[in-house]
Amino acid sequence: MKVDVLLGLQWGDEGKGKIVDVLTPDYNYIARFQGGPNAGHTLEFDQKKFVLHTIPSGIFRENVLNIIGNGVVIDPVVLKVEIEKLLAVGVNVKERLIFSKKAHLILPSHRLLDAASETAKGKDKIGSTLKGIGPTYMDKTGRNGLRVGDVFEADFKEKYNALLEKHIGILKHYDGFEYNLSELERPWFEGIEFLRQFTTVDSEHYMNKALKANQKILAEGAQGTMLDIDFGTYPFVTSSNTITAGTCTGLGVAPTKIGKVIGIFKAYCTRVGSGPFPTELIDGVGEQIRQEGREFGSTTGRPRRCGWIDIPQLKYAIMINGVTELSMMKADVLSIFETIRICTHYKVNGNITDEYPFSICGSAIEPVYEDVPGWNCNLTGLTSYESAPEALRNYVNYLENLLEVPITIVSVGPDRSQTLITGH
Ligand code: GDP
Ligand code: IMO
Ligand code: MG
Repeated sequence: MKVDVLLGLQWGDEGKGKIVDVLTPDYNYIARFQGGPNAGHTLEFDQKKFVLHTIPSGIFRENVLNIIGNGVVIDPVVLKVEIEKLLAVGVNVKERLIFSKKAHLILPSHRLLDAASETAKGKDKIGSTLKGIGPTYMDKTGRNGLRVGDVFEADFKEKYNALLEKHIGILKHYDGFEYNLSELERPWFEGIEFLRQFTTVDSEHYMNKALKANQKILAEGAQGTMLDIDFGTYPFVTSSNTITAGTCTGLGVAPTKIGKVIGIFKAYCTRVGSGPFPTELIDGVGEQIRQEGREFGSTTGRPRRCGWIDIPQLKYAIMINGVTELSMMKADVLSIFETIRICTHYKVNGNITDEYPFSICGSAIEPVYEDVPGWNCNLTGLTSYESAPEALRNYVNYLENLLEVPITIVSVGPDRSQTLITGH
């Protein structure tokens, strides 16, 4: 068996949580391979809504094991709150969730460093979720980090103190940055105690054994391709590899073990936080999309920036990830428009191109649009793709021609049930 991958092709919040939940019955394992509590994955079913940050979106289904892989960074405080919410509604988290011993821990001082760094950047700030993601991955690559497996070692507290000392030293360089560490440490150590009750494994062995035993695994991406540390809109990115390649390093599965790659995108485009966004609409139309799509961050509540779909950007993401099939989300949101715009190319320094340029930060990049007819009717009650309006099916076919990958799922509402299978 191979590991299938589902990941975001834009700037995050494409609807990964919803589709992982929809696909989970086809799998034995759902695994997160990167990111941490900067993610907010929303699931809606049976008139209930849940937002997951660290836990894979397969957690609500019986007989499925959810794995937090070595590439993930974990904040025990956020994790505890998240698990307690699930326990409160009767989800058997203990039996359904396991952790890699190699996943890194977010310390309270990582969160402080994140805040200090963002404040120091002023108007150039990344717009981080301030969950400590960047500083934790810096300590990982700097070979100073603490891992889940360390929690069970006798010298855990010493290791913690050594890293904390280093952080306190760095924080001194941020003039005027004040903090109260002990207030943050108490819930953190409570979170560590809580974490000790859960199963921790060498997940690379675990995953590969599962594959040998013909078990089906779906890897759930966090963030999106344009937030990838290498291929995103650097420096306005997150600090992990959000792309298919991240599955290999974040779970310990070889590239030859990757199966389907399901790329997920909105029928338009959004971004939360700073950084370039070529098709952004800073007008009433952008506001209409934000209101209709309820585009406010699942983790921070910040308004998401909205714009039209961007084909050069999606082509780039499809190339980097080796996408084999696509899910198009939030088609229902575009129902308010009689005409929909598609950015097919960019004009960069006077030249028309559909290739993503090195720098789109502040460079003269102008989207070239094509207008297509909208469906302009309510889609949220649709139960089959065949009964979808012709204008929607034309939109799907047109995108498939441009992107050269089949769109297998069209989503027409936030609920699990509002999911159309195209048969493409
Ligand atoms: P993720 O981070 O990729 O899992 O996405 P988020 O959960 O952050 O954001 C997606 C938002 O859109 C959530 O509020 C979902 O409930 C919602 N959503 C998902 N699919 C659809 C859809 O097809 N239509 C509408 N209207 N909302 C959707
Ligand atoms: P999901 O998994 C959307 C953005 C932040 C910021 C940048 C860096 O729900 O799609 P970080 O906290 O990683 O230092 O922030 O990345 N960002 C996200 N945007 N969805 C996410 O996750 C995001 N996780 C981080 O807004 O611009
Ligand atoms: Mg999200």
